[in-house]
Amino acid sequence: MVLPTTAVTINKRRLLRDLNAVSRIGIGDHGSVTRLVFSIKELRGRQFLIHLMRQAGLQIHIDRIGNIFGRLDGSNPKAPAVLVGSHLDTVLHGGKFDGTMGVIGALEAVRALKEQTVMLRSPVEVVCFVGEESSRFGYSTLGSSLVAGEVHGADLSNAADAQGTRLEDILSSLGIYRSNLRSMRRDPASVKAYLELHIEQGPILEAKKKPIGVVTSIAAPTRFRVVFTGQADHSGTTPMEMRKDALVAAAELVVAVEKISRRYSRMEKGRVVGTVGAMKIEPGVINAIPGKAELSVDIRSITASAKNRVVRLVQAKIREIARRRHVRIEILPIREENPVPLDKRLVHLLKECCEAKGIAYEVMPSGAGHDAMQMAKITPSGMLFIPSRRGISHSPLEWSDPEDICLGTQLLLDSIVRVANEKI
Ligand code: GLV
Ligand code: MN
Ligand code: MN
Repeated sequence: MVLPTTAVTINKRRLLRDLNAVSRIGIGDHGSVTRLVFSIKELRGRQFLIHLMRQAGLQIHIDRIGNIFGRLDGSNPKAPAVLVGSHLDTVLHGGKFDGTMGVIGALEAVRALKEQTVMLRSPVEVVCFVGEESSRFGYSTLGSSLVAGEVHGADLSNAADAQGTRLEDILSSLGIYRSNLRSMRRDPASVKAYLELHIEQGPILEAKKKPIGVVTSIAAPTRFRVVFTGQADHSGTTPMEMRKDALVAAAELVVAVEKISRRYSRMEKGRVVGTVGAMKIEPGVINAIPGKAELSVDIRSITASAKNRVVRLVQAKIREIARRRHVRIEILPIREENPVPLDKRLVHLLKECCEAKGIAYEVMPSGAGHDAMQMAKITPSGMLFIPSRRGISHSPLEWSDPEDICLGTQLLLDSIVRVANEKI
């Protein structure tokens, strides 16, 4: 039986129940959630999703890195599939919704289709990408980058976690080497489009009192690590003018990243943001001058030229600090990407889905990175946002209203129906 597709509705209770269940995996103090990529908790999250997909009767496929695809066939099983999803890994002490909402929302949409025996023209695949977050290795959108064929050997050289575990070593334990990085690439001919529902992680929707954001483009980062090497020495006996303090050099850089980024932070100037989010000091004791300081730098913009200008200025500043303070520097590139425009036809279709239900929406860029930015390289991609309370994310305080979660998921379902049935 084929129902009129406008009649397909999600099961709100089931959606909220499963979102809640996933958020219990890795729960910590103050309601924080930690599922760092390739940790036991993250693997348990993926296992739970496999269980839910199996219960829903989806055909499950797991690739070498661990990306999970749950497929519902279409009336033409040979037609390219509509992929819908996000990620289940989190930052350290993150929230309940970043990524998880997109995966469980996609699953709920497909469950509703299956349960209400609606067969769409194209197959639909719920996808959970591995390692979207860069918190552990400094390397973001790992799983979707592999699916898009966008992981390059050289990018992996400097990717390591705080304990020194190299991402490349984990990959090789999964049978992934520089020689077969493209083996997980999905043939673009097998994909019709990619859709992703996500929390906004910023303050715009709440401020504008709009329940939905339709995303036009995604800011992309340039990321690198900087190592300052001075001279560890006695903090009591070394005169101030004879020191080579790596931490003071690093502190100057932290302030410079903020200062330079602020100059380009307005929308007309490219809306650049720059962050030093992690630092390691050696020896890191009260009575020794720091001999080594290692920092992570993350610079993002929705405009490539503005981002590149800030990167050049920051790197020039690093060299100037090193010369003046007589410390050595190493700049270790991690990743350099360009901002990604999303598909204009999908932006239009998502706006129409909102209008059909009389829902107010905001057309907006995304400051955060998403798997959609990789998928956009192989297939038309579109994203929907729902509001984040006080704009907070990557924090236990991350919160989205259940009503907005249900509305976003219903609109995701409406858009899946149209994308799978129509020519786009
Ligand atoms: C992903 O959450 C990011 O760091 O933008
Ligand atoms: Mn995130
Ligand atoms: Mn996310």
